[in-house]
Amino acid sequence: MPERILVCVAWPYANYLLHVGQAAGAYLPSDIFARFHRLKGNEVLMVSGSDCHGTPITVAADKEGVDPSVIVERYHAKILEVWERLGISFDLYTSTLTENHYAVTQDVFLKLKENDLLYPRTEEYLFDPVAERFLPDRYVEGTCPNCGYSEARGDQCDNCGKTLDAVDLLEPRSKISGATPILKPSEHYFLRQSAMEDRLKEWVGKQAHWRRNVLNFTLGMLNEGLKDRAITRDLTWGVPVPVEGYEGKRIYVWFDAVIGYLSASKEWAQRSGDPEAWRLYWEDPAVRSYYFIGKDNIPFHTLIWPMMLMGYGGLNVPYDVPANQYVNFSAGQKQSKSKGTGTWMLDLLDTYAADVVRFYLTTVLPETSDTEFREDDLIRTNNDVLIATWGNLANRVISMIHRNFDGVVPRAGTLSPESQAILDEAKATFTAAGAEFEACHFRAALQEALKLAQAANRYLDERAPWKAVKTDTAHAAETLATALNVINSLKALLYPVLPFSTAQLHEDLGLGSDILEHGWQYREVPAGTKLAPARPMYTKIETELAGAPA
Ligand code: MF3
Ligand code: ZN
Repeated sequence: MPERILVCVAWPYANYLLHVGQAAGAYLPSDIFARFHRLKGNEVLMVSGSDCHGTPITVAADKEGVDPSVIVERYHAKILEVWERLGISFDLYTSTLTENHYAVTQDVFLKLKENDLLYPRTEEYLFDPVAERFLPDRYVEGTCPNCGYSEARGDQCDNCGKTLDAVDLLEPRSKISGATPILKPSEHYFLRQSAMEDRLKEWVGKQAHWRRNVLNFTLGMLNEGLKDRAITRDLTWGVPVPVEGYEGKRIYVWFDAVIGYLSASKEWAQRSGDPEAWRLYWEDPAVRSYYFIGKDNIPFHTLIWPMMLMGYGGLNVPYDVPANQYVNFSAGQKQSKSKGTGTWMLDLLDTYAADVVRFYLTTVLPETSDTEFREDDLIRTNNDVLIATWGNLANRVISMIHRNFDGVVPRAGTLSPESQAILDEAKATFTAAGAEFEACHFRAALQEALKLAQAANRYLDERAPWKAVKTDTAHAAETLATALNVINSLKALLYPVLPFSTAQLHEDLGLGSDILEHGWQYREVPAGTKLAPARPMYTKIETELAGAPA
């Protein structure tokens, strides 16, 4: 029975170019996961979109002196280009600027209000006496009250990851004028987090399958106690608050962004021609939902969004939140969009083929700790692993079948124990790698596949079909047919990581244009199949970087 899997991916702010850290943090892993499940025959809905509201966008717009919509349009287009070129296979990538998203957000707001989880309260907020305006979130910086980091922003501290209230910053300063803010009263809606604490504790306590860092961070926040948080702001850019007297205020960007998962699912359903189809992914408790995010987004996905969903009622809460750590870039510096360091994905894709980038990034996914991106490492991985272990294997075998059997897959005949053993290993790899993909351990999944490729190389070397063909055609035929069947398995095993080159290989093996038909299983290329001429899947990269010492 096919399962349904909902794959939710963090919504990137549409105010900067996507960098390697984000691709490795959320987008590549979610895509690998979605492709694995589709290949298995499961039904996947993978959604995300551009996060277009909030002070990250307005601060960028102010800096350029343009309307926020100008920024959003510019970067939304660039982000779409990355998905296209990197092969991130969203079922829908939308944005938070749609009418649908506004309507769904306001519906959630009103339902939570009706259920007494939202209430208005007047408090004092930071106000810039020079610019004469309130300073929500990123309009103010100061020292983190938790960890003492001096450049904490009003909404969150980049150092300790805690969500903050701007008023709690020590020594706050306005990002607009540099002035020391004064306090001024304003009325806002608050999320009654305090009322949900026990329910959340009970729920989080049952999530033993979550990554340890995700669980610990979440439990840590719960143990400190949850304060009610304002979810509206003194801003004019964002989703309007559907309450009289709030005309000059907007819903807080994080409140509307997480609702994006639901609104995008509804938009997908509308576009698919069955407007109710989203319910299949949100209302059936047997459906698992996965949220792929970076670690700075953890509290919003393990506490705030689940609490909103529980408060709304009738919708699935997250099954897993496999948050990644960071990818460091040069000298231990975090890939940071706000500070402008890092490698832009579009630049990388100008230089290297998508599958090469995907392969390398998969080997350094920050699944359990921070990792490092190095271009010389990427080149070495391309030459010494991707090509040496996998690309050449496929190429050699297909070439030999052309040279010796007119490009027609020979009959394997009765299998020797070595041939039987390598085929057994191929079958077992579907189980082993499958378990790793399932558990979102993508580095380990890739290693399982590479282990099989190494075994296949050893098998070929031992049986030396290039020699056997001169004296014992049956021996060579058995070897090449067997090796080709292992290659056909590797094609499927590697498809989630290498979708472009494996799809090409699937066609070249004479198996049609839809690699998903292969399924997640061992399958033979039938004897008599005519193979396309051998062509390399990857190109060796010759550069001085390739030989640089590690
Ligand atoms: N825009 C946020 C960021 O880049 C992520 C939002 S994820 C969502 O950090 F849950 F809000 F969608
Ligand atoms: Zn801090």
